[in-house]
Amino acid sequence: MEKVGVLVVAYGARETAIVDALARSPNYNVKLYIADKQLNPFNAEKAAKHVVVPDLGIEKICSFAEANKSEIDFAIVGPEKPIIDGVRDLLEKQTGIPVICPKKDCAIEASKVQQRLLFEEIVPEANPRFRVFKPEDYASVDAVKKDVFGWLRELDNQAVVKPDKPTAGKGVGVWGDHFTTREQLFEHFMSNFQYGTVIIEEKIDGEESSFMAFCDGKHLAPLPDTRDHKRAFDDDKGPNTGGMGSYKNKIDQLPFMMKADREAELAIAKKIFKEWTAKMPDPSAARGVPLYLAFMHTRGSPKILENNSRPGDPEIINILPVLKDDFVDVCFRMIDGSLSRVEVQKVATVLTYKVPPSYGGYADVFPAKVNHAEVGMPVDLSKAYALTSKYGDRIRVYPASMELRNGQVYALKSRVVGVLGVGDSIEEARKISLEGINAIRGGALWNRTDIASKQHIAKCVRHLKQLRAEA
Ligand code: AMP
Ligand code: GLY
Repeated sequence: MEKVGVLVVAYGARETAIVDALARSPNYNVKLYIADKQLNPFNAEKAAKHVVVPDLGIEKICSFAEANKSEIDFAIVGPEKPIIDGVRDLLEKQTGIPVICPKKDCAIEASKVQQRLLFEEIVPEANPRFRVFKPEDYASVDAVKKDVFGWLRELDNQAVVKPDKPTAGKGVGVWGDHFTTREQLFEHFMSNFQYGTVIIEEKIDGEESSFMAFCDGKHLAPLPDTRDHKRAFDDDKGPNTGGMGSYKNKIDQLPFMMKADREAELAIAKKIFKEWTAKMPDPSAARGVPLYLAFMHTRGSPKILENNSRPGDPEIINILPVLKDDFVDVCFRMIDGSLSRVEVQKVATVLTYKVPPSYGGYADVFPAKVNHAEVGMPVDLSKAYALTSKYGDRIRVYPASMELRNGQVYALKSRVVGVLGVGDSIEEARKISLEGINAIRGGALWNRTDIASKQHIAKCVRHLKQLRAEA
């Protein structure tokens, strides 16, 4: 088998899944070099060389790559921070190693304002109405308050507040969910505005999907839609998080979507890609997942909630384990510019995350549910891993914000461990995911219990049908 060296820049379970997909390559013997946010136990076991870079600083990542460059054929980057900081530009310049992720200029995730302006030029019909508030434009709090309240009147209060800069999904506040008065909204606005520009945009009613595509710079290779669960608690209550779990249907569209909804997404993504990349001096700059569009399916055509410049976490975990293609080949084709499509198995997948008590404010909202004796204690994944004897490859346990310390595994502060179930139906995949999740012991971890549940899906189907019946 051909030997291949790959550098993975890792943050959480999204990258554990990338590492797994590379390590399971049927065609290549893959040697892994992993620059990781923490000593992730899964990555530590799979890596030929592993380095911890807690802030994922690009200089340190580059030094690690430089020291091993004779062994590395390409690099792949999952997390947004190093991508936005220009890790590809620096790595390619200093080491010559080809890197899979967008170049800095292409990473429009860096600014929600930049995204909205780009979409306004190319697909204005997919943009919610929005207004940008810049601190430098205002001399006093009263002045900005007057403008914010004026805009709220125009929007009839149906507003969403978003900091310009990425905040791992956590800075976004939605009218009706996170505030119900203009004063409360303004308080949330100010908590972001003191640090920089904020957008207030129209709140869109509908159902969400995550659309991602691999990209070789010239083509978009669309992946099946996935559904994230952004809110912390069951029934979509609580603050926004990085995503508590996600699912993929057997087919490319989600159960609440019509074929036409998927086609509309494809048309929007292709139009953005064509007009956006036409202006790029370097045709390879968009390589990776430059367009991960979060869509809202509405009574009319879909609207874009945001764009990320990297694979979704957890959404890509719904896809990588069930690729029909060898992921190493997909990577090579992204680099040489010959990736026009990817094949994915016609199966359903469900990913559920277990998270620590501090995540999503759980310990404050449900103090009685937290087993305080377990906080800070080691986490035991062995019973979850043991389920592979029952389910084979249909269960995957992916450690995320976990650290190996003195031979024990501990939970850190972010999403701790994801379990993926694969099945012939969403229901079957969910059952496997939850069985794995429930087999994990220690760390006082908790999870949403309604990821991809029948009730959750039925509610989404009803909601969109009702909206469209009213249209
Ligand atoms: P974002 O980080 O922009 O994806 O926002 C996080 C979450 O806030 C989304 O997944 C939606 O649930 C919600 N959201 C964001 N923008 C809007 C919008 N314009 N209308 C309604 N909900 C939104
Ligand atoms: N799951 C949301 C994100 O990756 O941004």
